[in-house]
Amino acid sequence: MASLGHTVVGIDVDADKVALLASGRAPFYEPEFDDILRASLDSGLLTFSTDFAAAADAEVHFVAVGTPQKAGSNAADLRYVDSAIEALLPHLAPGSLVAGKSTVPVGTAARLDALVAAAQPAAQLAWNPEFLREGLAVADTLTPDRFVYGVRRGDDGDRAVAMLDEVYATALAAGTPRLVTDFATAELVKVSANAFLATKISFINAMSEIAEATGADVTALADAIGHDNRIGRRFLNAGVGFGGGCLPKDIRAFQARAGELGLGDSLAFLAEVDATNLRQRERVVRLATEAVGGNLSGRRVAILGLAFKPNSDDVRDSPALDVAGRLIEAGATVVATDPEAIENARRLNPDVEYVADVETAVTGADVVLLLTEWDHYRTLDPAAIRELPRAAVLVDGRNTVSSQAWRDAGWAYVGMGRP
Ligand code: UGA
Repeated sequence: MASLGHTVVGIDVDADKVALLASGRAPFYEPEFDDILRASLDSGLLTFSTDFAAAADAEVHFVAVGTPQKAGSNAADLRYVDSAIEALLPHLAPGSLVAGKSTVPVGTAARLDALVAAAQPAAQLAWNPEFLREGLAVADTLTPDRFVYGVRRGDDGDRAVAMLDEVYATALAAGTPRLVTDFATAELVKVSANAFLATKISFINAMSEIAEATGADVTALADAIGHDNRIGRRFLNAGVGFGGGCLPKDIRAFQARAGELGLGDSLAFLAEVDATNLRQRERVVRLATEAVGGNLSGRRVAILGLAFKPNSDDVRDSPALDVAGRLIEAGATVVATDPEAIENARRLNPDVEYVADVETAVTGADVVLLLTEWDHYRTLDPAAIRELPRAAVLVDGRNTVSSQAWRDAGWAYVGMGRP
């Protein structure tokens, strides 16, 4: 926002994060973000604070706090959204707009709008879901593929649309589509988009299970069905499945909300999507077990990649880290590496042996698992590391390298639904 010329204050309750950001460093790894952060600080348009009073002069307030899965339930935990709104209410100026970005259960925006209206009758709320992907956050923010504004009906809504149009003027001028809806539709757009993406991944992973049993090749299958542009090739990569702070908890929260609405049956398929996804983690463990001859006890397993996806240091619900934990439970020694995610992974699972590079990780390994498709791992020279492991077996949990190239270099190659 600051790089687009707006004056921005970023507010967070975490003083350490605020201090880090104010000094020009991000509390996470995200390509291109550090540069844009520093440039925005240097321009004087961006400041950070822990004090909600700093919001008092703002015309638009984006609320972008997390909505994680509630402990012991599938539902979303809304306490951070609720407390952010509550802390903001006393500082709302007449005419200001609260724009919700967080992923919330349908019905939340209407409830929060009533709170805003009660605290400041001349302010209002809009729901403006966020579709950015980690690893591509800067590009997705500056050039998104669409905007969705959920607003009140009538003049108030028109005013909210005009304010958001001003905020997003640069992208709108470049032709980014913008859809204006009611609150409920905007909330549902977000969760249904993530539910569809999760379904697409579990669909191809189910095909991959069938391919594995029949000797078919799921990658060729995905290429072939992907040429049908009603289906599309993107998000049809079979492997260890989806993780992260969004897809898994969003499909669960969506089911929980449907249950509250008495519509559990409508989203019952998402339980199957979730189960299919989690089964891929067990499947990788089974492939690793088979690769070492049936018993993981005392075996050394190398894992390449810990982040839930490449170009991120995020290990929330990371399939790779989950697999690591399962392997350790089965008695294996797990040696893992990742270009960015080691520190975060260590906090969640200190029992994994973390090493800085691929060579160290694979040395002496009985099997090597590739679980996050960082470019560095996709482009490894299999011949150069052929002599390092005890047994040169690669389980490609992302179907991401050339099986032929690895076999030609003397490796046994095990894909997921690839012969
Ligand atoms: C996802 C959505 O893609 C964003 O549009 C959304 O804004 C975001 O959630 C959110 O709700 O905030 P993200 O979690 O960053 O974004 O990651 P994705 O690119 O969607 O990948 C999710 C997981 O699916 C990763 O673990 C990835 O490895 C896996 N995946 C993706 C596959 O297993 N196969 C594929 O073909 C694609």
